[in-house]
Amino acid sequence: MAVILGIESSCDETSASICINGKVINNEIASQAIHEQYGGVVPELASREHQRNIVPVIDHVLRHAGINANKLDAIAYTRGPGLLGALLIGNSFAKSMAASLNIPLIPIHHMKAHVMAHFIDDPKPSYPFICLTVSGGHTQILKVISPTEMIILGQTQDDAVGEAFDKAAKLLGLPYPGGPMIDKMAKDGDPYKFKFAESEMPALDYSFSGIKTSILYFLRKELKNDKDFITNNINDLAASIQQTLISMLMNKLINAANQENINQIAIAGGVSANSGLREAIENGAKKYGWQTFIPDFQYCTDNAGMIAMSGHILYQEKAFGDIADSPLPRMPF
Ligand code: KG4
Ligand code: ZN
Repeated sequence: MAVILGIESSCDETSASICINGKVINNEIASQAIHEQYGGVVPELASREHQRNIVPVIDHVLRHAGINANKLDAIAYTRGPGLLGALLIGNSFAKSMAASLNIPLIPIHHMKAHVMAHFIDDPKPSYPFICLTVSGGHTQILKVISPTEMIILGQTQDDAVGEAFDKAAKLLGLPYPGGPMIDKMAKDGDPYKFKFAESEMPALDYSFSGIKTSILYFLRKELKNDKDFITNNINDLAASIQQTLISMLMNKLINAANQENINQIAIAGGVSANSGLREAIENGAKKYGWQTFIPDFQYCTDNAGMIAMSGHILYQEKAFGDIADSPLPRMPF
């Protein structure tokens, strides 16, 4: 049994969480609104914001949990993948705190932690299960055999699906981050009004770079006839783009479930917050007899709850890191 502090700083959220005996009791997230005006995350600004936020965020979760720092048994932190300067803030803080308290460090892989978010709340999947991991940097179909053993059954060969959502939103003139905006507008739109070509990839792999070009050419053509085409059709455009991306994700996910003969299906990562994808997964449950697992919203996008939970699991296995470990922006899976 253990008290773990989790720290996440891989991109633009500074987050901390306390996990006591396997129960995540808080999850504080400081989001960085500053990137909105630049239409994307500016790495140098992200590092500065992390530096500003990390002490208050950690202080908050310790106080909220009524835990004195000297009661911590270990510190789990995101070692990668992510932005180097952003990771460095969390890594340096975790290392110095662990050294001063003389407790172990637990380095965590950010994408594996997204999968481990499924062990925060009930119902929890049992092994093996399939997890569609969809974020701003990754799109993977995983066969999860244990907390440490995950096999990549398929993945994107170019852009991540979150990137496709964000780039499409940019073409529609929506502010960053575009994914949640498309989700919101799609609720009032017709998902079958416009048709965009779905890229074909072999086996269980994906490609999302082509859809951006196909949307761009489509908009250019329509804008020639009607300069207000986007404004006049914004909800239908959002709904149709979302529908295309979800259809691509679902087709391969269904194939993966059949291929592996596994009916426990989970989704993880920022795009799993998308209401259309959540609905498609629930429909899959009815249609294919899946048992589905969808994390609570706060554990879909970047958060330290998933880092603290991963830390709890790895603490049992004594999977400790070293003070000399450096951040790994391209941490291998
Ligand atoms: O996991 P995450 O928070 O950060 C990374 O590790 O990348 O994922 C961020 C991605 C962004 O591309 C964002 O637009 C997308 O998740 N996202 C969404 C929604 N919420 C976040 N995409 C579609 N619909 C949403 N509701
Ligand atoms: Zn993430």
